[in-house]
Amino acid sequence: MSLTSEVQKRKQFLLRCYFCKTEYEIDEYGKFYHCQKCGNLLEIVRLGGFRDVAISKEMQGIWKYFELIPLWNSANIVSLSEGGTPLVRCRNLGRQLGLESLYVKFEGLNPTGSFKDRGMTVGISKAKELGYKASMCASTGNTSASLAAYAASAQMRCIVLVPKGKIAMGKMAQAIAFGAEIFQVDGNFDDALRIASEICEKDDKTLLLNSLNPFRIEGQKTVSFEIIEQLGGVMPDCVILPVGNAGNITAAWKGFLEVKQGALNSLFGTNLAHKTPPRMIGVQAGGAAPIAKAFKNGMRDSIEPVLSPHTQASAINIGSTVSWMKSLSAIYDSGGAADAVSDEEIFSGQRLLASTEGLFVEPASATPIAFLVKIAKEKSKEYTRIRDQTVVCICTGNGLKDPNSVLKNVRPDQIQTIPVDSISLEKVLA
Ligand code: F0G
Repeated sequence: MSLTSEVQKRKQFLLRCYFCKTEYEIDEYGKFYHCQKCGNLLEIVRLGGFRDVAISKEMQGIWKYFELIPLWNSANIVSLSEGGTPLVRCRNLGRQLGLESLYVKFEGLNPTGSFKDRGMTVGISKAKELGYKASMCASTGNTSASLAAYAASAQMRCIVLVPKGKIAMGKMAQAIAFGAEIFQVDGNFDDALRIASEICEKDDKTLLLNSLNPFRIEGQKTVSFEIIEQLGGVMPDCVILPVGNAGNITAAWKGFLEVKQGALNSLFGTNLAHKTPPRMIGVQAGGAAPIAKAFKNGMRDSIEPVLSPHTQASAINIGSTVSWMKSLSAIYDSGGAADAVSDEEIFSGQRLLASTEGLFVEPASATPIAFLVKIAKEKSKEYTRIRDQTVVCICTGNGLKDPNSVLKNVRPDQIQTIPVDSISLEKVLA
């Protein structure tokens, strides 16, 4: 199967309002960020189904799914080799929690250390294709690190807004190193995103690259393609992931639905349509949990934003989830769930994953593990349901981004010092 021509490909994709279904020309994106009619978020849909989509053998990482991504010309790809992250079978942790088949998709091994790179390679490639010279985002840290890297590679201006004093040092260091223009907002992430959106709505030369940008979602959906490939053409039963602004849960669900419609049929030479997509379980931090609360109250049509969100898992310290509607659809349509865990549970989950499996993830990324520990302790209905199933936790970011999350408990100066001889060491070890 050969790749579709540029002209044909343009005809295959459409920009559409997620809510009222008003359709727009895809390359108009950036002149507006919301539906012009009802103000809701936009999404990208592929027309004419997914059968006979070619998966490229020449392209690497997420770009092997080029046919499924709305970029017209492969010459516009700005890539740092994102995707292709390992799916690690966690036998030690599984045994400890009584889970038969537990996996971690370790997204911390992307080029800038988080899952954001999947979306950013597509977002910046599209920005280049549309002729943008400047990009902007608000961020709790990872988005800014990722955008700054891709903008540097594309030689594009990059402006990032971060909530003052609320992002991990490693992420700030990345944004500085990549040469972004950084501004600290004297407020929280939700304030920073409001400001960035207002500026980009007015300035049609700067593209907003937060996850409300549907091109980001088109890149991030590839995590689901990879999970299915790594499981040998099998859908997992349940996928557990952290939720902040809810771009990731939206994207992962979109990926699974596209596979159900045939997106990977050519790869496996079989029709995956009869397979049931996984239940999506979103986990938030207790102090910033509008989606978990909405789910608990059976709400689907609205959420109550948290006005002063607070969690030490700074990446998901978000009170006003932008993609709330899409994420609640993912949760309800998949028969999934949403829940919240405390900061204490998050840090303990982070240490548990690291010490049982050798996987060091940042605090926000440990929320799925914290959730599993919690339901295992409670022996809840959810636990009984999933313990013999294939469970995949998407661990979104690398622990090295936020070393203070571990060092605040054990300071390096508290670690025992020994004299320079082997006898002393022998003594201490005895
Ligand atoms: N995990 C990590 C490590 C994150 O950085 C984020 C979001 C999430 C999970 C939640 O993903 O927003 O798609 O639900 N970080 C954003 C940022 C907000 O600015 O880096 P989501």
